[in-house]
Amino acid sequence: MRSRTRIPLLVGLVAALISATLAGCKGESQREPAAPAEAGKAVSSGSPAVKASDVTIGFLVKQPEEPWFQNEWKFADECAKKYGFKLSKMGAENGEKVLANIDALHSQGAQGFIICTPDVKLGPAIMAKAKQYGMKVIAVDDQFVDKGKFMDVHYMGIAARKIGEMMGQAAYDEFKKRNWPVDETGVCVVTFDTLDTARERTDGAVDVITNAGFPKERIFRAAEQKTDVPGAMEATLSLLTQHPEIKRWLAVSMNDEGVLGAVRAMEQRGFNKDTIIGVGIGGTTALAEFDKPEPTGFFATCLINPYRHGFETSEMMFKWITEGIEPPKTTLTEAQVVTRDTCRKVMTEQGLLD
Ligand code: GLA
Repeated sequence: MRSRTRIPLLVGLVAALISATLAGCKGESQREPAAPAEAGKAVSSGSPAVKASDVTIGFLVKQPEEPWFQNEWKFADECAKKYGFKLSKMGAENGEKVLANIDALHSQGAQGFIICTPDVKLGPAIMAKAKQYGMKVIAVDDQFVDKGKFMDVHYMGIAARKIGEMMGQAAYDEFKKRNWPVDETGVCVVTFDTLDTARERTDGAVDVITNAGFPKERIFRAAEQKTDVPGAMEATLSLLTQHPEIKRWLAVSMNDEGVLGAVRAMEQRGFNKDTIIGVGIGGTTALAEFDKPEPTGFFATCLINPYRHGFETSEMMFKWITEGIEPPKTTLTEAQVVTRDTCRKVMTEQGLLD
């Protein structure tokens, strides 16, 4: 008799202990507000912990004037419309603005935000503020860094090295196709090495080009101060002044803006579509260039997907808030090389154009 009652009691005790320990192990993010990930389905049939109309999500971007970020916002807006939450789009051009805007989001009652930070080293300050307000955070595009290491914060970005390699390969293939003499050719790499996703992209391109046998000493780095067209143009102009011996250029960079700036600088010095092979990363900025009546030195781009970075991050955040479904820690998105001939078609197929 005694033993029969004791065993279930013991089992019950152990089970209670295990579940208490598990609860203790869960991160803060998983604990509140509602159910754990697996219960997501059950929750959706019952009443969610937070109603969609009570949800406010912030979407902060470092360069609101850049088409990539405008597209992220556009697709985030589509998500807000679909689910019926409020989206607060904010510029985050510097640290002060970022922190002030998180305060503003708090006063709006926001439960979380998605951010492409102007400086990845702001990560700890951003997370401290978010924690203070109990807000959830997803970093998009540029991953937070603390003391030289990526932070353990939910993140969606592009597969930077792989896409950089794709960019280098596309430029190199075209160089081979055109049969350019190596001793007349140089590679202009517009760099922004303080940002990991930027450095990975340009390093990937350089690796592919050198591994294919292109001489290292004919690869030239031009560091841009700002990752926009004027920034890249300025960096490239000074490179061109230093290397008047180069007659033909390949150009790569972290994004379309970097390559476009390089192409504009080269045009100023008399280069054209026959002496430039520019390959970028992006799509929308390249498309405007491809839509011009005459081809330019901007040859191709690696088309990346602002729908995923805008809509999907917002959807992840919404489900995290309303159903307690924690998003994957890291999501890396892919690219596809497109040219003047294919860019519009592929973007249309992918639902990236209106
Ligand atoms: C960085 C760049 C943007 C864009 C995104 C893509 O944030 O600055 O131009 O390439 O990455 O994730």
